[in-house]
Amino acid sequence: MSDPLRERQLVRETLDRAAEAAQRYLADIDADRVRRPGADAAAAALNRAFPEHGDGALAAIEELVRASDGALRASGPRFFHWVIGGDTPAALAADWLTSVWDQNAAAYDSTPIGTVTEELAIAWLKELFGLPASWGGVLTTGATMANFTALAAARSWWGRRHGVDLDARGFAGLPAVPVVSSGYIHPSATKALAMLGIGRDAVRRFARDDVGRVDLTAMEAALRALDGGPAIIVGNAGEVNAGDFDPIDALADLAERYGAWLHVDGAFGLFARATPTAAHLAAGVERAQSVIADGHKWLNVPYDSGFAFVRDASLLAGPFAIGAAYLPKPGEHPMFGAMGPEASRRARGIAIWATLRAYGRDGYREMVERHLDLAQRLAKRVDAAPDLERLAEVPLNIVCFRYRPKDAKADELDALNTGLGAELLADGRVYAGTTRYRGVVAFRPAIVNWRTTQADVDLLVDVVRELGARLGAAAAV
Ligand SMILES: Cc1ncc(COP(=O)(O)O)c(C=O)c1O
Repeated sequence: MSDPLRERQLVRETLDRAAEAAQRYLADIDADRVRRPGADAAAAALNRAFPEHGDGALAAIEELVRASDGALRASGPRFFHWVIGGDTPAALAADWLTSVWDQNAAAYDSTPIGTVTEELAIAWLKELFGLPASWGGVLTTGATMANFTALAAARSWWGRRHGVDLDARGFAGLPAVPVVSSGYIHPSATKALAMLGIGRDAVRRFARDDVGRVDLTAMEAALRALDGGPAIIVGNAGEVNAGDFDPIDALADLAERYGAWLHVDGAFGLFARATPTAAHLAAGVERAQSVIADGHKWLNVPYDSGFAFVRDASLLAGPFAIGAAYLPKPGEHPMFGAMGPEASRRARGIAIWATLRAYGRDGYREMVERHLDLAQRLAKRVDAAPDLERLAEVPLNIVCFRYRPKDAKADELDALNTGLGAELLADGRVYAGTTRYRGVVAFRPAIVNWRTTQADVDLLVDVVRELGARLGAAAAV
């Protein structure tokens, strides 16, 4: 069995087999360990030499299903590490259809449904986030590429301000691009700046404390010193250690005063605008020139999914236009393959459309509010535990804390928490890794999964304390 053509009659059986395995996986996911024992061995079992002769799809899928313990239950309710969303039922089912339909979302000619769902996804997301309907947007693989896309538009704008079509000519002869931010700037934004040739080191961070909160006075002085020269401000709506926000309204004031481009990275924090209880945290985003967020985080659609919104979407044509005699021209519908970094692209609009269609504005408001409540509950549980210490306020969905038993020496706490972080990931019942916050090692669980309940959050506290006590007892022997 080599040529897939011989398997034409087996397509249904192969998909049934995968669907059955998927159902079993999902049936257990609410109670499962995030990391099952044997995860490494299960993944490693796939190692084999490239087969000279294949034995068909069923055998391949069987082998994959046997290795499924190698998959972390990242779409389950207790994956608090990084900022990892799950998949709503609507998004997941639509994503299956996306693969079956296998549309190339470059243009309407290659996919009416992919293009129309992307147009609707962009329009509805702008409504969800309270962004002006006149802005343009495009779907990307995630927030890193959304930052890249929006900052590419900013780069074109900056070139024009210097009288240069930078996308045609490149940077030759131009000065460095001034980029300012707070200490909250995410490495994906600096990675995007590197990819754009602006350079990671172009960023000047203005922070007034060791957390990274913006120093507006120093930032303003830097913008003033440019003497009217164009600059890019990167605002951060939701930073990863404690879920804090730059004051976007104040950054928008600076942008207006000094003629700068304000770009906002709201990978998960933009969802604060989905509820009136938290929208104030991200007030002013609607005054920016560009803003981005992720789909695979708080929207709970499968990887990979992100979105970039740009006030003047015509700027996207500079870096991303693509033309050839055999390709269509943008017509009645946008040609999304000419508005972002990829030409051929997955029809990500389908899953986003489906989840927004299924749950609507109310559904997302309810979910975000539930997560905010869960974060407050977690904070209270941390505060009530004698061996835990909360390290930050909880404005959104992240709770920053560390394990601190009464008898622990201050200079041993980092090693203790680092060790506990490794134990927690190996234990696998709940998943939350460590970071450095104000110079100390800390946990920073983020709550973004639609399945997460009070019991999951409580279990996180219980497991951290249980493993911490065990680690402490082992060290004392
Ligand atoms: C604030 C922020 N920006 C950007 C990113 C990068 O997102 P992605 O991994 O989807 O590219 C993240 C990821 O956690 C983030 O938290």
